[in-house]
Amino acid sequence: MIIAYMNDIVKRYGSFRALDHVNLEVEKGEILGLLGPNGAGKTTLIHALAGLIKVDSGDISLFGKKLNDHIMEIKQQIGLVTQDITIFDDLTARENLEFFGGIYGLRGAELKQRVDETLAFVRLTDRAKNLPAKFSGGMKRRLNIACALVHRPKLLIMDEPTVGIDLQSRNYILESVRELQKQGTTILYTTHYMEEVQSLASKIVIMDQGHVIAKGTLEELVENIQHEEKIHLEVIDEPTSETLEELRSLNGVKQVIHNKKKIQIISSGGAENVDNVLAVVKKAGGVRSVTAEKPTLEDVFLTLTGKTLRDGEEE
Ligand SMILES: Nc1ncnc2c1ncn2[C@@H]1O[C@H](COP(=O)(O)OP(=O)(O)O)[C@@H](O)[C@H]1O
Ligand SMILES: [Mg+2]
Repeated sequence: MIIAYMNDIVKRYGSFRALDHVNLEVEKGEILGLLGPNGAGKTTLIHALAGLIKVDSGDISLFGKKLNDHIMEIKQQIGLVTQDITIFDDLTARENLEFFGGIYGLRGAELKQRVDETLAFVRLTDRAKNLPAKFSGGMKRRLNIACALVHRPKLLIMDEPTVGIDLQSRNYILESVRELQKQGTTILYTTHYMEEVQSLASKIVIMDQGHVIAKGTLEELVENIQHEEKIHLEVIDEPTSETLEELRSLNGVKQVIHNKKKIQIISSGGAENVDNVLAVVKKAGGVRSVTAEKPTLEDVFLTLTGKTLRDGEEE
């Protein structure tokens, strides 16, 4: 079941299109990984989906209702963890949660219970009475996440929640996201870290320059790119032009590059060419070593955009 969708969204800043005809579907119960380099439009997309900014054209629906017509009702069911941490430094951890719970209409015993549960979930129970000013970056982020969870949202949207925090908190956050999914929360998780998406997401959407450039499971994305297989060979005798020609003529082979006794062969999706390649080079004098690589999400991104995800990264 689709619980959120964006259809043909355009968002302009002046003449610049931060979102350029974007479509997105979020399925109930999934962790959808939204991956893209800095400036791709991820935050803009999330802010549009959460009803924080108006778009220039296109439709947005959540929980079966149009965002524009039911904005208050829909916002009650969303939890948003913004890219910059939004907590009050002069309220204690508990008071921060009481404040956000109160905004969402929680009162009295129910509010207290939810605040206690949520503090425990982010492992801040013993810091409940402390001001966050002295918290580490990771603790602040955990409190920030708790503020977005206190009202039990159906859809949790997280905007690069692990940037600039310690490894332990980062792992803890990733674990919490998995735990929330188990409990039935749908999660839209935004990041420019490929590894996070690879380990967390059941479905991946890749954005670049205001466009959604690919979507699917990790397996689907990897299958769809051109160089499904990279085979590296070291052969005994330097290959002749006939041998190279024979390799090039194998089904699915896109490219054969050779440097003395080293040969690299790139085949298209599903070609499974290791056996065929070996048969050719064995005949031509033998093989010293062979390795085959499957492409990663980074290769998917590189193939689609001609650049790496790390390009333009500031850290
Ligand atoms: N309020 C704004 N005014 C003008 N340009 C903006 C504004 N917000 C974002 N942009 C531009 O839109 C593009 C996408 O930004 P953003 O959605 O923050 O990307 P991401 O979150 O993927 O890094 C960037 O080029 C950014 O400079
Ligand atoms: Mg952003």
